[in-house]
Amino acid sequence: MQAKIIDGKALAAAVKQEAAAQVEALKAQGVTPCLAVVLVGEDPASQVYVRGKINDCAQCGIESRSIRLPETTTQEELLAHVKALAEDSAVHGILVQLPLPAQINEKAVIDAIPPEKDVDGFSPVNVGRMQIGEPCYLPCTPAGCIRMIESTGTDISGKQAVVIGRSNIVGKPAALLLLAKNATVTICHSKTKNLQEICASADILVAAVGREGFVTGDMVKPGAVVIDVGINRGADGKLHGDVDFAAASEKAAWITPVPGGVGPMTRAMLMLNTVEAARRASGN
Ligand code: GUN
Repeated sequence: MQAKIIDGKALAAAVKQEAAAQVEALKAQGVTPCLAVVLVGEDPASQVYVRGKINDCAQCGIESRSIRLPETTTQEELLAHVKALAEDSAVHGILVQLPLPAQINEKAVIDAIPPEKDVDGFSPVNVGRMQIGEPCYLPCTPAGCIRMIESTGTDISGKQAVVIGRSNIVGKPAALLLLAKNATVTICHSKTKNLQEICASADILVAAVGREGFVTGDMVKPGAVVIDVGINRGADGKLHGDVDFAAASEKAAWITPVPGGVGPMTRAMLMLNTVEAARRASGN
């Protein structure tokens, strides 16, 4: 079997159209959604991601504010910026790009973003609400993964889902969202025994490890849906996922490419969260 490609770019374009239509409706009521993106330092990958987010805002008619701070920024300085954005009623969403330089405590910064402006879905309040199934901002990458799986027509309910990786940003929330869709979920990590066997039992396999080619062909069940969250810069200078794409494609029914898979969808989901933040702030 040769896997079909889950086209992240095309899906993201559709989600952004959805966001743009909602922006139009909000603008007609006098509300312009606005996202503030804070980038500390010069990390090249972060610069690319932030540029993409600002471009997506423009495409959707969302106003954006880009706040660039030097690598030497102190925690107090960054917190002062976040506080100003938190108090600015024209700003609906605040995103502080991670990772942050070593002198800054990431948790203190995330905690300073009011939950109602936390369009990343990283604040403890949103994480907690997600866990108990209350309305919240879902973290963009796992929410995008779910949309990609559903775009294949796969009914998640009752399926064996395996998530490799247990980060707060991707692995843990991806597992929770799959559980909320009634999948039987296993989370694998660096201490997992029988990794190959567990992964090969997955109808839905989500790889969020951060290691190029970590998922080999023998870890993919024939007919599986494979979602590759990894973005790794290879020795060839190109971007590669966590999945050995060629080998996995021979077994899976559906697979996401890297680039052009989860990345664009993540950013598109951020646009939906920002529009939602503006809608809630407007009282609609
Ligand atoms: N760094 C890598 N992914 C993300 C993300 O989704 N949000 C933020 N704020 N930083 C990131």
